[in-house]
Amino acid sequence: MFDLAVYGRVCGGPKSWVSVEEGMIVRVSRERAGKSAAEMVLSDSQFLMPAATDLHVHLRDFAQKKKETVETGTKSAIAGGITTVADMPNTDPKVDSARMVEKRVDLLRSDSYTDFALHAGAPDSPQEVAKMHAAGAFALKLYPPELGGFHELLKETSRAGMKMAVHAEEFALIGTESAPLAEGVAVRKILQQVGQRSDVRFAHVSTADGASEIARARRIAGRLTMEVSPHHLFMDEEMADKRIGVTKKVNPSLRSRSNSAKMRRMMLRGIFDFYASDHAPHTVEDKFQGSPGFPALEFSLPLFLTKTDDPELVARMYCEAPATYLGLRKGRVRKGYTADLVVVGRRDWKIDPEKFVSKGRVTPFAGETMRYAIDHVLKAGKTVFDGRRVTKTETVLVTGRPQKSSRGGVSR
Ligand code: DOR
Ligand code: ZN
Repeated sequence: MFDLAVYGRVCGGPKSWVSVEEGMIVRVSRERAGKSAAEMVLSDSQFLMPAATDLHVHLRDFAQKKKETVETGTKSAIAGGITTVADMPNTDPKVDSARMVEKRVDLLRSDSYTDFALHAGAPDSPQEVAKMHAAGAFALKLYPPELGGFHELLKETSRAGMKMAVHAEEFALIGTESAPLAEGVAVRKILQQVGQRSDVRFAHVSTADGASEIARARRIAGRLTMEVSPHHLFMDEEMADKRIGVTKKVNPSLRSRSNSAKMRRMMLRGIFDFYASDHAPHTVEDKFQGSPGFPALEFSLPLFLTKTDDPELVARMYCEAPATYLGLRKGRVRKGYTADLVVVGRRDWKIDPEKFVSKGRVTPFAGETMRYAIDHVLKAGKTVFDGRRVTKTETVLVTGRPQKSSRGGVSR
């Protein structure tokens, strides 16, 4: 007897029965496989896809509860069909020591609605890197002012078996007339310092130039990866200016229309490894004071589906690839994978920030019509979103080490 059986069209495949036991997908078959305690039958306008894993999320909290809390941010992720998030360390205070990693893990363990992984920030001393990893951080994240320390810190992360993520923009060029070149310059400098086996992820790549440089280097050095965010693909500076004026600020900045068109073509050719929201919520007042970034967790999956009309591509880039990068058996509707699943409905709705669960309200995507909606979300086979309410279940810390294949097991 299974715990749950879901019947319906599976993204990229035919109508199937997906049977779940102890939180895992144990069977996917055209025929009904036997009895189950509960059953879910999708309508003809719905399909089933894996839940997403978002590698780039700012959950704030600590001294910035006004902008977002772990609770509101992760609830917003669940409502958006995302069941695993990787938190960023530029909190107040920063997560840049083993002690702060422990503190962040404690907070996430008690308040998170999603499974979670942690980036640690650049520490005062390189010796702290391994300690931050031992305390639970899967990766080190470097911001533009810290890129001078890249080489030394990369040695530490490699030694510790930890991943590295970089915001690659030449600090001195940000905000100048040469700002669109800042990424290419920083990317080239970093690429000169990586080795064959360096595990380096380029965060929110924003220019076609930066992306092609990374793609070229990736063919030689094995473990280079890059994220792309919704606003750099589907928004440009001019359009954002018309829609939200001065509050359009984000780092890296929005670029030209021709750049985002090039980026979209690159995305369709499969150049980027991961789609990541860079959910960066601020209060409206802070946005008017110049704080950079937008909330995006609640609509990233529908937006990506709407703009590409290609659920299989979305499942690879936003579900399977980021989960695999984190060592998780998640992100596919397949036997042996965790039953983190989303029922997507083909119906129109409009992005309305006033209705967000997130505390962030300012996004240039407000008012856009989405053609795909998140109808239902399962996490380890349990309902965590029924189309209206988000509910809490057990969550785990993801440390980035490859997971042993074990039934019912979740990442530790
Ligand atoms: O736009 C951004 N917002 N870029 C960053 O690098 C930081 C982020 C934030 O924390 O708000
Ligand atoms: Zn960010």
